[in-house]
Amino acid sequence: MTKAEHLQTVAILVPGDFNDHAVDRIEHTFRRIKIERADPTLVTDEMRSNVRAIASFAGINAAMMDALPNLELVASFGVGYDSVDVGHAAAKNIMVTNTPDVLTEEVADTAIGLLINTVRELYNAERWLRDGSWVRKGNYPLSRLTLRGRRVGIFGMGRIGKAIARRLEAFGLPVAYHNRRQVEGLGYQYHPTLKGLAEAVDTLISVAPGGASTERAVNAEILSALGANGVFVNIGRGSTVDEAALAAALANGTIAAAGLDVFADEPNVPKALLDAPNASLLPHVGSASDHTRRAMADLCVDNLVSWFTGRRPLTPVPETVNVKAKAIPGKV
Ligand code: NAP
Ligand code: 8YV
Repeated sequence: MTKAEHLQTVAILVPGDFNDHAVDRIEHTFRRIKIERADPTLVTDEMRSNVRAIASFAGINAAMMDALPNLELVASFGVGYDSVDVGHAAAKNIMVTNTPDVLTEEVADTAIGLLINTVRELYNAERWLRDGSWVRKGNYPLSRLTLRGRRVGIFGMGRIGKAIARRLEAFGLPVAYHNRRQVEGLGYQYHPTLKGLAEAVDTLISVAPGGASTERAVNAEILSALGANGVFVNIGRGSTVDEAALAAALANGTIAAAGLDVFADEPNVPKALLDAPNASLLPHVGSASDHTRRAMADLCVDNLVSWFTGRRPLTPVPETVNVKAKAIPGKV
């Protein structure tokens, strides 16, 4: 049996709707098994016996991993992997991979677009044109806010945070940041606390990952520290924000405006945010171009190919970097 023929026998479970290019490549290289969603109650005996990897947009929890005794790898589609129980995976010697770097510039572009849209009210200005207000009422009112003179803080100065900061430099805006650790050799001002960062700036961009350490980190206290001229942009994860506190801050003038690409319970967006006239809302489109999703799909599938041809995965998440391949008879 050639390597290619052997790979055709490796069963990859693909829950729900998945990226078309990734599906094409998985079908061409492996044996794809579909499942409606990543739900252990839907796992059949055939899946239990044969599935060796999952390729997924969706979260994979401990129960799903436990339902698949031959599972070796979870190839997660996206850089953020807060919805995969990586602690459980590491404990069970299951490798988890993600798709870093290939989406960094696209997400940074989206963050800047969302920032400008929010500050200059472009979403309302376009509606003004389309609904005939320009003809009936004249020019769109001047925007209350501007990027000019703003000081920007980045919560989560990682790969995407740095790409956003580089763009902001070109806009002539000073940048500061908060991470748990200061980034060596990075010239932007570091704040050891998120509150300290919020107090020092008037524009806060969150690109921090989800998970326990960032859960509702952007709360009423942080929004109050940002102040009445404050603009908050979230391109990271919705779970990092107390959405009720944010809606209240937008309604009562604690901050001036917000631009949000991510929400705590997607695709459900709280009514108070939908109703906020000073919020620009996007349906989690940070990386959502054909170009970038194709690159993410390739990296997701390349991780599978690398693992099942006996090599290390290309982009393991740090929590499972020491996971070793299982000795399975017949494994390539
Ligand atoms: P990254 O390179 O790992 O950067 C994450 C940064 O967050 C790191 O600098 C990290 O620094 C900081 N951080 C992590 N936990 C923190 C905490 N508890 N407090 C303060 N800072 C913390 O990841 P990335 O590639 O830039 O991606 C970042 C996130 O963006 C992803 O995890 C994902 O959630 C989100 N994202 C969203 C979209 C979208 O479509 N909207 C697309 C791609 C990614 P320390 O470890 O020093 O704290
Ligand atoms: C994707 C993302 O929309 O990479 C991430 O962390 O949030 C986005 O690029 C998402 O992962 C698609 O599953």
